Amino acid sequence: MNILTKNIFTGLALYVIAVSNVYASGPKPTEPSGPSSNVAWDMPQIKFVRGGGPSRGKELNKKLACASCHGEKGAATADNWPSIAGQKATYTYKMLIDYRDEKRAGTVTSNLMVKLAKQMTEQEMADISAYYASFSLPPATRPKVASKEEVEKILPLLTRGDGKRLLAPCLSCHGTNAEGNIMDIPALAGQRAEYFRKTMKEFKTGARHNDVYARMRYISKALTDNEINALAQYFAEMKN
Ligand code: HEC
Ligand code: HEC
Repeated sequence: MNILTKNIFTGLALYVIAVSNVYASGPKPTEPSGPSSNVAWDMPQIKFVRGGGPSRGKELNKKLACASCHGEKGAATADNWPSIAGQKATYTYKMLIDYRDEKRAGTVTSNLMVKLAKQMTEQEMADISAYYASFSLPPATRPKVASKEEVEKILPLLTRGDGKRLLAPCLSCHGTNAEGNIMDIPALAGQRAEYFRKTMKEFKTGARHNDVYARMRYISKALTDNEINALAQYFAEMKN
């Protein structure tokens, strides 16, 4: 077991403790009621998404003009919009369903996606998810949302987490190269910095609450705004 894997496992053990503590304290009255997503990853659901057709997705991409906002091949051209290139098909699919069901809604930008997702069938969602999953992850960018020193300070959070705050390492879930992970865990490598900061802040306030088990709501609340900026800078610059 190499050091990275070992650190990740230690961090994961801390996380399990953290989550049991969260559940022991019961749901917060401000959290929305009902499930955070209607997508449940049982075998038929996984098979359905895996069966998505990238060539049908390509046609659909033209028809619905996804690239006008998310960029050719899914690498966003503006810093405040998400790149979706190389994202796991299961994550993209879950987001589209969450938008359609208004589980991720209520902000100006999410409402744009809600409108679009409501026009799509589940088959079309699977097809377009397969299409975007067929690209490489977005290229590194050089935003200026945090200094080198600030980025250095957050490096332990990536592979070791923080025992004091019961934080599991980011990469234990998001993949050792931040390439994403099974089912609903997105890639972060090359993600646009402004979008990263915004969505983390929305997890923090609860404006975004489609994360099953409140994993990202819990983690983002434990981070300072400076740390979030530094994490945004780090992942945007990440080469893959
Ligand atoms: C008018 C611009 C626009 C168009 C067209 C558009 N999107 Fe989006 N998309 C956005 C914005 C802005 C967000 C961030 C929304 C938020 O804050 O929740 C987003 C978010 C997403 C996300 C979530 C990304 C993440 O990392 O969580 C996915 C997946 C997505 N869009 C897929 C698509 C697909 C597929 C299409 C075509 C069917 C499409 N989008 C068309 C603007 C657009
Ligand atoms: C216990 C597992 C876990 C850990 C640890 C974790 N994440 Fe996540 N993260 C998730 C899941 C699951 C989602 C997708 C939530 C959803 O369905 O909307 C997510 C989503 C995100 C997103 C939104 C990405 C997008 O495209 O919209 C960001 C940003 C993010 N995580 C950053 C981090 C950072 C930074 C850390 C470390 C400080 C971290 N995560 C640690 C599980 C985790």
